[in-house]
Amino acid sequence: MANFAHLVSLALEGSIRNRPTVAETTGGFRFLFCNSMSCDRLALEPAKRANRDLADPLTGIVRGHRRRANGFVAPDRSNSAVYNCIRSSTSATGGTTVRQEERQSEPALRVAAAQAEFDAGVTYLNTASLGLPPRRSLVALQQALNDWREGHANPSDYDRPVAAARTSYAGLVGVDPSAVAVGSQVSVFAGLVAAALPDPSEVLTVQGEFTSLVFPFLAQVGRGVRVREVPLENLADAVTARTVLVAVSAVQSADGRLVDLDALVEACAATRTRILLDTTQAVGWLPICAGRFAYTTGGGYKWLLAPRGTCFFTVQPDLMDELVPNNAGWYAGDKPWASIYGGPLRLARDARRFDVSPAWQSWVAQDPALSLLTEVGRDTLHAHALGLANRFRAAVDLPEGDSAIVSLDPGPDIDQWLDRAGIVASVRAGRIRLAFHINNTKDDADRAAEALAGQVRP
Ligand SMILES: Cc1ncc(COP(=O)(O)O)c(C=O)c1O
Repeated sequence: MANFAHLVSLALEGSIRNRPTVAETTGGFRFLFCNSMSCDRLALEPAKRANRDLADPLTGIVRGHRRRANGFVAPDRSNSAVYNCIRSSTSATGGTTVRQEERQSEPALRVAAAQAEFDAGVTYLNTASLGLPPRRSLVALQQALNDWREGHANPSDYDRPVAAARTSYAGLVGVDPSAVAVGSQVSVFAGLVAAALPDPSEVLTVQGEFTSLVFPFLAQVGRGVRVREVPLENLADAVTARTVLVAVSAVQSADGRLVDLDALVEACAATRTRILLDTTQAVGWLPICAGRFAYTTGGGYKWLLAPRGTCFFTVQPDLMDELVPNNAGWYAGDKPWASIYGGPLRLARDARRFDVSPAWQSWVAQDPALSLLTEVGRDTLHAHALGLANRFRAAVDLPEGDSAIVSLDPGPDIDQWLDRAGIVASVRAGRIRLAFHINNTKDDADRAAEALAGQVRP
């Protein structure tokens, strides 16, 4: 196996060249040093500080804990970023490649192939509310519905799409599938984290955060959990030694603003504060390295193009034992089909112990949708969505932005203007919200700009 110094030098090289670097080892393992957005720093910073044998070469898991005065076990995060964005593509657990795109066709061809699978009869800019399914998801779902109707559906048949979706999702966010749990709602996973907080605890969040990430913590105030809400731009500065957890969405649902994740991670590292990152409005267009955060959770029915009923949760492996699997049912069992009756407790050893039994048909459609997103590749998804959002912004005289969601102050009668132009968007917090995703084209951006020019303000 290549020695660690060699891998570190490749990570540095990748960052300098501003492109991902793949290192192949003699053992047949392939490591990826990704550097899109904040991933750059992830690969580089820990590499600078690296001493020997930081991470398990296969899972990338860094061992080591320090105990905090309050009894909350704080993992040694000094090198944690090493495993966040280094991942074996030949994982023993059968994980898919993080960046399949590197061995695939040109980005434009991949985008065109993906777009051929969508069929909206309108200019659909509403993925932030509800994503559209690609054709392959409809085909799979239709088949599953027919099988069900004709009496051929078997509950255990649904295990395959759930497992495949878990693996694809793990690839998209750069962690091992063993760190991913599945469920149906964000609020359920937020509740899991909330229930594990020591009391008293301070939870920091942002003003106007999506409720599913706030209510689970507010519901705990009776036992000494305090929720502090601050403006998004002050989040990193508001972290103090008393802050046990920051619960925040990577991309704000109301207006698409992005959290400065690098600043937040840095602030939290200094105070040993954990982060629960809601990725619902991010993963699918914004590259996120889930392993950077204690916990992440994201619903599948928007940017992951699934029907309602799929959700993912990631947890850093060394934090797993601190979470009580409050929602454990038969599907959280080590071998679910062998543990459907009675005790003793025999939970999965990995993050599957946090699984909530799946809404079957939703997963049938989620799996192919994730395969489409994986085929396009997360850098291409990002460039495409942001490119369209900025094309629209330029056409309506707005400065360039960093989000695939554009939020605007609507003039009067905006609904009529949208209707007349055949544009589907949403209004949130009194502002019009346009979301650009892989199903959208330059024509969509241009049509929206033409319809809205003069009707909206920043
Ligand atoms: C940021 C964010 N988190 C979570 C959700 C959905 O939460 P839940 O799965 O609990 O319904 C949404 C839906 O709009 C969202 O925008």
